[in-house]
Amino acid sequence: MNKPTLYLNLCTEFFDADKPIASRKEYAFFYHYLAQAQGKILEPMCGTGRYLIPYLEEGFDIAGFDASPFMLKALHDKCAHKNLKPHVWEQFLEDVPTIQKYNLIFIPDSSFCLFLDVKQIKTCLQKIYSLLEAGGTFVFDVETMYAVPDKVGVWQGKAYKKNDGNIIMCSTLPLPIENNIATVICRYELINQTEIVKTEMEYFQIKLYHPAEMDALLKEVGFSDIKKIAAHDHTVTPSPYDYTVVYECKK
Ligand SMILES: C[S@@+](CC[C@H](N)C(=O)[O-])C[C@H]1O[C@@H](n2cnc3c(N)ncnc32)[C@H](O)[C@@H]1O
Repeated sequence: MNKPTLYLNLCTEFFDADKPIASRKEYAFFYHYLAQAQGKILEPMCGTGRYLIPYLEEGFDIAGFDASPFMLKALHDKCAHKNLKPHVWEQFLEDVPTIQKYNLIFIPDSSFCLFLDVKQIKTCLQKIYSLLEAGGTFVFDVETMYAVPDKVGVWQGKAYKKNDGNIIMCSTLPLPIENNIATVICRYELINQTEIVKTEMEYFQIKLYHPAEMDALLKEVGFSDIKKIAAHDHTVTPSPYDYTVVYECKK
């Protein structure tokens, strides 16, 4: 199976500058599940730890892993600063051993949409199923086919000033959606006063789901009690046209 090279050095720096902490709404939404968990909690694809670290600080028994050594370095640097000892490791979800079981597994930020083809999606869902204890919960969000970029073919950009005075810039070019795969060409640049010091390119792709597609996949893998929830509010009924949908299901 092809493993993508994603979330390199500049990408991680930009991600951390752009999304240093989880939004209050999403943090509270997933907190609801952590507070109900009856055992160990796992966050696959935990990235820079913007969920994992504060949950760890709140006292939850949480572990995580991520495929990117750069994202994990950012996580470890933050933990060192806070004197925290997180239980996180570097691994692709597809390769995680299933000896340790978890009562709750959660994946925020539509990270599950990074799995593009059906075979890989099923492999990852089966892996998560195997990692859950009987009765355990899996909660995650996905982007739907309605989450199409509004400015296809137009470069857009965002930049942040770093503490050392350099600028980190991300330029993105959304391409037309093909077979429900959204593609964005991302160019990350590190800029000093007058020059581009480093450039990093990324061919970013996510899968956008048909309304019933994920329900069928979850059922096929064996999940039960499959619920769709509006992102990210338990009190709102989801609409079939929402851009993001949260799934909650049980083993
Ligand atoms: C958009 S980031 C989000 C991270 C985190 N969920 C958050 O909300 O901050 C997606 C993360 O998924 C990780 N990732 C991508 N493919 C992966 C895989 N196959 N196994 C494990 N991690 C993966 C990337 O390295 C990256 O850190």
